[in-house]
Amino acid sequence: MANQSNITIVKHPLLSDRLARIRDKNTPFEEFRRLLNQVATLMTYEACRHFETVESRVNTPVEETTVQVLKRGIVVVPILRAGLGMIDGIMSIIPEAKIGIMGLYRDEITLKPVDYYRNLPKNLEDVDVLLIDPMLATGGSASEAAHSLKRCGAKRIVIMVLIAAPEGVDAMQKNHPDIRIYTASLDRQLNSKGYIMPGLGDAGDRFFGT
Ligand code: PRP
Ligand code: URA
Repeated sequence: MANQSNITIVKHPLLSDRLARIRDKNTPFEEFRRLLNQVATLMTYEACRHFETVESRVNTPVEETTVQVLKRGIVVVPILRAGLGMIDGIMSIIPEAKIGIMGLYRDEITLKPVDYYRNLPKNLEDVDVLLIDPMLATGGSASEAAHSLKRCGAKRIVIMVLIAAPEGVDAMQKNHPDIRIYTASLDRQLNSKGYIMPGLGDAGDRFFGT
């Protein structure tokens, strides 16, 4: 069973409500898109909770004061395709973030990740990386994405997913114990085809309408 120390299950009534609608197979893809972005916005507050701040000074219209500002830049890295469905929601509150792209798909037979595209900003060693994907199933895609990011220099990574399976959490904790996981739900288990139960089905297909 997953070690609970580096996983946060984000709880909020708005999040629960949106998640319920996202899970519903009768939710049309236009609404699915809107809800996924709303959920991403809501979760981002929590996922950035451990980002460090430093002291700075600003002049308000009244006087100079001490403030806290983010210590590092933020790079958001969606795992294609479905991770793209969270970008607008995140950018609505961190518009200054850079975006890196990680193109991976899961082979339907082997369930192993296949790497097909990567385009990341430079100087990943100096930033906080928010790796995003709606689904953490076997954990293969997220583990591979995290390996790639680390090979490119990333030192501080958190992963934010909408739904996680215990199998995926275990894989991430084994392969990347340094990476904190934020999820809106820890579901029951995977089925024989590697889908999360109860889950929401295929996130990419539901977002893109394919
Ligand atoms: C889905 C999902 C994750 C991956 C999770 O992508 O968006 O990236 O599966 O599964 P895993 O934890 O077992 O690796 P998919 O491979 O279906 O690609 P798509 O988003 O392009 O449809
Ligand atoms: N990828 C998805 O999109 N859904 C799942 O349930 C598992 C992997």
